[in-house]
Amino acid sequence: MKVAVIGAGTMGRGIAQTFAQCDQVEKVYLCDIELEYAEYGLKKIVSVFSNRIAKKKMTQQEAGKILSKIVTGTDEIATDPDLVVEAVIEDMEMKKKLFKHLQNEIVTNPDCIYASNTSSLSITEIGAGLKKPIVGMHFFNPAPVMKLVEVTAGLNTPDETVETVKEISATLGKTAVQVQESAGFVVNRLLIPMINEGIEVYSEGVSDITGIDNAMKLGCNHPMGPLELGDYIGLDVVLAIMNVLYEETGDSKYRPAQLLKKMVRGGHLGVKKGIGFYDYSDGGKVAVDLKKKSAAAPESK
Ligand code: 3HC
Repeated sequence: MKVAVIGAGTMGRGIAQTFAQCDQVEKVYLCDIELEYAEYGLKKIVSVFSNRIAKKKMTQQEAGKILSKIVTGTDEIATDPDLVVEAVIEDMEMKKKLFKHLQNEIVTNPDCIYASNTSSLSITEIGAGLKKPIVGMHFFNPAPVMKLVEVTAGLNTPDETVETVKEISATLGKTAVQVQESAGFVVNRLLIPMINEGIEVYSEGVSDITGIDNAMKLGCNHPMGPLELGDYIGLDVVLAIMNVLYEETGDSKYRPAQLLKKMVRGGHLGVKKGIGFYDYSDGGKVAVDLKKKSAAAPESK
């Protein structure tokens, strides 16, 4: 099987790594709008492997075999995949335009399946007006580690496409859960409002950042507290999903926290920018005292 992953950001490169690690996959196109973005994605995969080699969890040969399947480039190289997984930003127009471009001008395989890794948007709307149907194939961060794939059918997605994507997920060692089309599906509908509420709890001064995170880690056995998880996912992604939940339902319980909006506006997006609720400078992780920070935009990192 040949797979094209479009978008080499955190999710895209994790998904590309996941496919490349699968014996049934012969080639993975890792694409982005600029070659350098795709190459940066590959560099990050190499660094994950270097850590695993250093920890003796993988050999150089194993890493080399997996990496040799990954070809980087712009979307134009994805001519013959059996499966496309779109993992670009959560922007409906961008996703629609991308699938149209791929289906009409790039992909020549008539049997190619087109999947979106959207974390909250309507599969029916992404697929509206396209020649070929779209199916939701939602991975979780870090994609090579997390065992779940949410599989979603839009109104026009054939049952057999859904079944094939479930089978592919199983081949990857994942468990597929089929979910109805609904804002945020299952996981993000539950998880992202929890992170948002963690931010409200912090804003109200109920506890400090490490207090809130420790409470949820130790009290609920969560691997990460809500604020560190927000940083890990990306606060811009958290805000985008809250906005979709709020707009789709019109329910005020999904209103994004003011502090979340402020942090996104100020570029405090979490791990990927080196600062969010924690400061990740020099490989560290120190809670930021946001109460002491002025409303002025921070220096960009
Ligand atoms: N890419 C690939 N592998 C990674 C990785 C990454 N970015 N980060 C960690 N790993 C691997 C490590 O290599 C290690 O594998 P190994 O045991 O074979 O060597 C394994 O994961 C464990 O990593 P660590 O020992 O470094 O760290 P932890 O044991 O603390 O686990 C964690 C890290 C898996 C991230 C854990 O903290 C966790 O499960 N956190 C919660 C993550 C979560 O909730 N994700 C879902 C977010 S919601 C989402 O993604 C939906 C989206 O739409 C927003």
